[in-house]
Amino acid sequence: MRILVLYYSQTGQLRDIIDHCLAPFVSDPLAEVDIVPIVTRHRFPFPWSNLEFFNLFPESVNGIPFELEPLGVDRSKDYDLIVLAYTVWFLQPSVPISSLLQHPNTGQLFKGRPVVTIIGSRNMWVLAQERVKQHLHRLGATLVGNIALTDRNKNLVSIITIIRWMFHGKKEAFWFFPPAGILKRDIEGSSRFGEILHHHAATGSYQGMQNVLNDAGAVNINPSLLLLEHRATKLFRMYARFISAKGDFTSVERLGRVKLLSKLLPLGAFILSPITTLSTVIVSILKKKALARQVDYHRKNDLSENPY
Ligand SMILES: Cc1cc2nc3c(=O)[nH]c(=O)nc-3n(C[C@H](O)[C@H](O)[C@H](O)COP(=O)(O)O)c2cc1C
Repeated sequence: MRILVLYYSQTGQLRDIIDHCLAPFVSDPLAEVDIVPIVTRHRFPFPWSNLEFFNLFPESVNGIPFELEPLGVDRSKDYDLIVLAYTVWFLQPSVPISSLLQHPNTGQLFKGRPVVTIIGSRNMWVLAQERVKQHLHRLGATLVGNIALTDRNKNLVSIITIIRWMFHGKKEAFWFFPPAGILKRDIEGSSRFGEILHHHAATGSYQGMQNVLNDAGAVNINPSLLLLEHRATKLFRMYARFISAKGDFTSVERLGRVKLLSKLLPLGAFILSPITTLSTVIVSILKKKALARQVDYHRKNDLSENPY
């Protein structure tokens, strides 16, 4: 079994998930696991400055690719499985991963291969995965599995802790808040998904694997958060257009609009989010069946039976 893992992780959280999840492969002498980080020419800082974080918004939302350093992949190897591990930036796959999926050389690598995605995000990843599904389909790859780990704390709590983590590099618990990010025990427990994956990879058949992963808790979708994600995506697209109208990533002219976003987005999260949460609860009761169909669709890996 030859497995290629492609990933981008800033703080190491996603790398930690990969290491736990793929432990059953690493301890198997018959498996060869190559773990390759994706590196952009432009290095994104951590912790982030306010301006750098929000200036990346339009490129993230619109999936505009950045230049990549040469991929450290041995092209002579015939991989049996690709694991694409990614985080979510502004409801889209992170810029390094989005750039990889649009890179001219990526086609050859992915074409005809089974792919498993591993996601490590705050709590909104579903529409980013739709974008990844579309890229993989275009590249001729087959998405055979998905594992999504999220921060299971309340939405507002995770917003507060992630802001402190991303802008000040502080992940530990403070006051009555929990540590930022995904629970340690969820990360450690992800090796059970790896065991399911290992079993299927060893037989070479991924039929029915996603159902087994889902039963083990690999993909949990909260219908209210899904509604919120749809609404936010529409607003994000509008605001991304508004900023991009003033120039690209390097443009100084757009910084006024970027600064405005840095005020509006937290305001939106703290003031509008509780109101929208209330309205999404009402909508999720009224549209229970339609939402259930959407959740069902997002727990699968193909693009057919799209309920939208
Ligand atoms: C610029 C930026 C935007 C983010 N936007 C989202 C988001 O829309 N949804 C989400 O669930 N997580 C979001 N996150 C959290 C990341 O998905 C991820 O969990 C976190 O950055 C840690 O990942 P790491 O392994 O790269 O350190 C964002 C993080 C960054 C840096």
